[in-house]
Amino acid sequence: MVDQLQRRRSTGLVWLFAAVLVAFATAISAAQPAPAAKSNGLAQTPPVGWSSWNQFGDDINEQLVIESIDAMVSNGMRDAGYVYVNLDDGWQRYKGKRSDHPLEFDPKKFPRGISYLADYAHQRGMKLGIYSGPGQTTCAGYTGSEGHEAEDAKMFASWGVDHLKYDSCCSHRDAPKDELQKIFRTMSNSLMAQKRGIVLHACHCGWGDIWEWAAALGVNHWRIGQDISDDFNYPGNREQYYFDVLDQLDRGVGLEKYSGPGHWNDYDMLIVGLNGKSGQLVGTGASNIEYRTHFSLWSMVNSPLLVGADVRKLDAYSLETLTNKEVLALNQDPAGNVAQKVRDDGDLEVFAKELEDGSHAVLLLNRGAATATMTFSPRADLQVPMDRYTVRDLWRHRSLGTYDIPFTAEVQSHEARVFRIRQLSTSVNGRSSLDGPEPESAQ
Ligand code: GLA
Repeated sequence: MVDQLQRRRSTGLVWLFAAVLVAFATAISAAQPAPAAKSNGLAQTPPVGWSSWNQFGDDINEQLVIESIDAMVSNGMRDAGYVYVNLDDGWQRYKGKRSDHPLEFDPKKFPRGISYLADYAHQRGMKLGIYSGPGQTTCAGYTGSEGHEAEDAKMFASWGVDHLKYDSCCSHRDAPKDELQKIFRTMSNSLMAQKRGIVLHACHCGWGDIWEWAAALGVNHWRIGQDISDDFNYPGNREQYYFDVLDQLDRGVGLEKYSGPGHWNDYDMLIVGLNGKSGQLVGTGASNIEYRTHFSLWSMVNSPLLVGADVRKLDAYSLETLTNKEVLALNQDPAGNVAQKVRDDGDLEVFAKELEDGSHAVLLLNRGAATATMTFSPRADLQVPMDRYTVRDLWRHRSLGTYDIPFTAEVQSHEARVFRIRQLSTSVNGRSSLDGPEPESAQ
């Protein structure tokens, strides 16, 4: 009897203990909820502008930035949408560990300070970006933000900065995810504590499947791979540091769903206009057609479009490429849909996406060495029963007429042809060639 009583008592105690444990755990989890999705509401379309790194490395200064802003205003880039002017690594005063140096701008390179440049940009309807990293030093060896994130975010905001590239230099490759997340969460929270909205770019080489979790921390864009090379076929395998244009493109296939308004997959800065003369990147340069293809692809997949070339000296072809408003509009489309690869016939690939107005952007890519004839069928490739549709060529700036059959196009080696197709309601006579003149009546 006594035994039974004791057993009951100890069973009761076990239950009481378990109940206390459950209550305790519930209280703790209520006090520390799982990190909720955060958003600063910025970058509803991918950031478009210029960044100093690809051409100039850390050899940057006030004069260069002012001249670049002036050039972007006078050559039409600003009006086409290139509003970000981003200082990359090298604006800082000191090289070496943050524990040994404060983070300050270099007064020799930037005699009037960063806020002067921010004002200069804002007065012209543009925005200023800056660069730091979560380590003791940045990739080029300048002082980083480790342990000073809140203080640095406050300083950037007080200068009037609009964008921060926060660069881990491909470190922490095999670090646990919570460690990685902490790095970017700390800076994201610090930026969000400022009155000024600052776009956050996590430059992290795609480690730790960053696309899966960065948006929830409030990151606005994240690199999906390592640095781009200035070419289409950088020799060697993909374990090497540099990714050529096609490597970056392939890296993004399957990641489309993570990208959308406010949070974008970043395929790295543009190489258009570098022409093999980059101060920083490997690669011997690409042809005009290849640079245009690269720009078309980045527009289709909604990568940020940050020009890496010297905007003061762009050749006419590069400028025309970068300011093609019809192609840029695909990147800036408010729906934010990322193009999917809808067909892969070896070297011939088709990418497509639906735009906000219900039309579709279609890109025909020829990765091969010889010109190819490519065919596109809305019904087969988009799974849309589009029996009658108009086609517009966004590089030739021509409407090609109305079709009720698949359309074909000649695509040169490494060329991408880009079209916007729009469904019509009833059937008319079909047209099968893209290259004939369009009938006026087809408009
Ligand atoms: C890394 C980044 C580059 C550039 C440099 C600066 O390599 O990937 O885009 O910012 O650092 O040091």
